[in-house]
Amino acid sequence: MPEVFGVAVFGCGGVSTGHFSAYAANPRARLVVAVDVRPELAQAAARRWGAERWYTSAEEALRDPDIQIADLCLPHHLHAPIAIQAANAGKHVFVEKPIANTLDEADAMIAACRDHGVMLMVDQTKRYQNRHRKIKEILDAGYVGEPVLVRGAYLQDIAYAWQHMEPERLKGYWKHDGVISGIGIHALDLLRWLVGEVVEVQALASMSGLIDPQRKTEDSGHVLLRFANGCIGEVTVSYVLKTPHLGASWDVMPIEIYGRNGSVRMDEHDAITVASDKIEGAPGVGTFQIQTRPQVGAAPLPAEGMAGAIEHLLDCVQTGTQPLTHGEDARASLELVEAAYRSIEEKSAIRLPLQSAAMATGAGGTR
Ligand SMILES: NC(=O)c1ccc[n+]([C@@H]2O[C@H](COP(=O)([O-])OP(=O)(O)OC[C@H]3O[C@@H](n4cnc5c(N)ncnc54)[C@H](O)[C@@H]3O)[C@@H](O)[C@H]2O)c1
Repeated sequence: MPEVFGVAVFGCGGVSTGHFSAYAANPRARLVVAVDVRPELAQAAARRWGAERWYTSAEEALRDPDIQIADLCLPHHLHAPIAIQAANAGKHVFVEKPIANTLDEADAMIAACRDHGVMLMVDQTKRYQNRHRKIKEILDAGYVGEPVLVRGAYLQDIAYAWQHMEPERLKGYWKHDGVISGIGIHALDLLRWLVGEVVEVQALASMSGLIDPQRKTEDSGHVLLRFANGCIGEVTVSYVLKTPHLGASWDVMPIEIYGRNGSVRMDEHDAITVASDKIEGAPGVGTFQIQTRPQVGAAPLPAEGMAGAIEHLLDCVQTGTQPLTHGEDARASLELVEAAYRSIEEKSAIRLPLQSAAMATGAGGTR
């Protein structure tokens, strides 16, 4: 009999639907609680997904003894305080990306979870998508060799999405977040996983005013990366693009990795093409393509995206193993975001690891 874990989902807004549906479909999860400060959302989610109870306060939910996992689908500024409360209450924490707003907040979350012996996993969802797992497999198989140059992008037209957002949600939405922290972190995290750790960051950003002329944060950006292994890279992110391929773009993440033995490219339609001098039987550089969606009649692929992340979460809670996207790992991706913002502000390249102002003056600090 598989062990079953009681789950509370905090925040019943946009992203929670993927979390609720993954728990509802997973026999190892028992959806105990839905929590939202908006009672109508908590109640509707509980009814829709079969959660046993609903609350409007995180404190009340965290007192519920049937909960082992606190899943936080909350605005960024609430990740740290509620994760820390959950850890203090002895609950494992699964938190949406980015881990937190600042590295100090991330450090406090990591420390609280460590001190209370609970797990901290961050939903860097892209690592749990089969197309990205496939790219990782291709790299691990040696087709590309040591990476030399990488290009990634995450392109959206969020103004298009927001036109269709429920007015009540839009009112409270943290729509002033910049694109680098909002979705750039997905691409940056994926490249860290695929290529390696980063030692230097340089960034440029712009504000088009296309989302809202009052907006104070960037809606397009380029982030240049130098990896510890010598590879250099570029990540392009935008909230305001209409791509020539797809019109109003949504969730488009092309990636190209060039190495000493070959290259792998995933285009805007998720088709993966490999060129390599390591393809058995092919003289010189051969190529092959991979279907990222299963063909009719093919064996089903492993659970992916949110369902894959939640499967991994339940495995790790059950076996006590460290998740792929654990707290420190997600913190390193947040560090790239913070370095990009520092680079924009200081108009210079930023070396990692980052130093806090306190450390720079010899007063100590955690960054
Ligand atoms: N992994 C992904 O691909 C992905 C996609 C979208 C969003 N996200 C992340 O998910 C998180 C939530 O995003 P969203 O789009 O669902 O936001 P949202 O605004 O739609 O939902 C947040 C919900 O939290 C509720 N809330 C606010 N304060 C609360 C509190 N103190 N206690 C309980 N509930 C509270 C709000 O009422 C709202 O319903 C963010 O961190 C975001 O970056 C991740």
